[in-house]
Amino acid sequence: MTTPAYARHGFGTSPEVALDDVPVTGRLPEWLAGSLLRNGPGTFQVGDRRYRHWFDGLAMLHRFSILDGRVSYANRFLETRAYAAARDEGRIAYPEFATDPCRSLFARAMAVFDPQVTDSAKVAIARVAERYLALAETPIQVQFDPQTLHSVGVVGWDRSTFGRMTTVHPHLDASRHEAINLVTRYGAASQYVFRRLDTRDPGAVRGADLATRRVRRPAYLHSFGMSARHLVLAEFPLVVDPMALLLWLRPYIENFRWEPGRGTRFHVFDRASGAHVRTVATDACFAFHHVNAFEAGGELVVDLVGYDDAAVIESFYLHRLEEPDVRIPPGTLRRFRVPLASGPVRQERLSDTAIELPSLDYARMNTSHEHRHVYGVGLRGERGFYDQLVKVDLRSGASTTWWAPGCYPGEGVFVGRPGRVAEDDGVVLSVVLDAARGTSFLLVLDAATLAEIARAELPHPVLLGYHGQFYDDLPGPG
Ligand code: CO
Repeated sequence: MTTPAYARHGFGTSPEVALDDVPVTGRLPEWLAGSLLRNGPGTFQVGDRRYRHWFDGLAMLHRFSILDGRVSYANRFLETRAYAAARDEGRIAYPEFATDPCRSLFARAMAVFDPQVTDSAKVAIARVAERYLALAETPIQVQFDPQTLHSVGVVGWDRSTFGRMTTVHPHLDASRHEAINLVTRYGAASQYVFRRLDTRDPGAVRGADLATRRVRRPAYLHSFGMSARHLVLAEFPLVVDPMALLLWLRPYIENFRWEPGRGTRFHVFDRASGAHVRTVATDACFAFHHVNAFEAGGELVVDLVGYDDAAVIESFYLHRLEEPDVRIPPGTLRRFRVPLASGPVRQERLSDTAIELPSLDYARMNTSHEHRHVYGVGLRGERGFYDQLVKVDLRSGASTTWWAPGCYPGEGVFVGRPGRVAEDDGVVLSVVLDAARGTSFLLVLDAATLAEIARAELPHPVLLGYHGQFYDDLPGPG
């Protein structure tokens, strides 16, 4: 069996490099200036061991800086205990999403008393209270210098944090100086907890409880929804017995069970007071990513990328992704209307186009009922890895795509043109793996049409990663 080229390059190892001037073809818009910071795996190989799942691996940060039509690039492994153990001792020392360290039964038992969670914060990036943070689903945030990409240290975490998981998708509201995230506390009495942090307070790193809800068997939660007045927790029926998780007999995600009979429960909270507004159940589904949420006519409208079940997680094991005919279940844009007073949830399919890693013009359109355009990666056929960028018009349901033979784009990040009127006046940035050449490039698309404007070609591959952010006030070095 031949491993497909995208898997050989996309799940291999990235070298650490810094390039002052990356060759650009096409013409970058004059207004486009700032830095795209991205997070993701830098290697899946440690010593003679290989991580097992796309969501494992050692964190690597990337920075593409754009100014005056030129591009510079640098990357660096996140300097963590997990990375030090891999580099210095050649071993996987901490449990990841679906990979555990090699441990004896005795060591496993002892780990209950001396828990070790990974600090390889590889999933996303956020700027909270002027700190640049690498985020993981363990509540460990690693602060880094956005210029040098050197790690500054772990913030907002101590040993008592064990037994908690969080999302890598905090909601940020600049107008209210708020950062809100969702934490699951596992224990004899497990809880979902919304935490709110005042972003004006430079000392605030963990925030305070805003809303809590007891849960017997917590669900795997990757994101949540926030509208102008509400927070919404969509509790999918992929659930875990917290005692199994605390014993940690198998890798983290493999403790969860799919129980569709529970349905999907929408828990709605008042955003200002934290008061519980409503819990209402509907048919079972699964999602990693919320897209947006807003109030309309007495209802909370919740858009997400939904799946019929949680099989997508299994499709991301590396041995599956390395099969020539891998099949990834297609996620689609689904809208749930949750009446705020009473009545059942109504669901509609917004588009049939396969989409993941959804993004929008977050700064302007998050919580807005006028939000219209969603960007993401998609699947051209029923087999293979994400091989196109898509844009879905929520008003018409129509979709636009960009693809090129042998190319595998990462998350599309929208950057608006300063002074724009139209929502999609700007560019979409994506780091694309050219599997045939074994190299990656920064792709710049016209956000209105998804036509290519420019690309900046690296001499090496960037591994297939997850999430990033663009900061227009973050210049490149020098
Ligand atoms: Co995510």
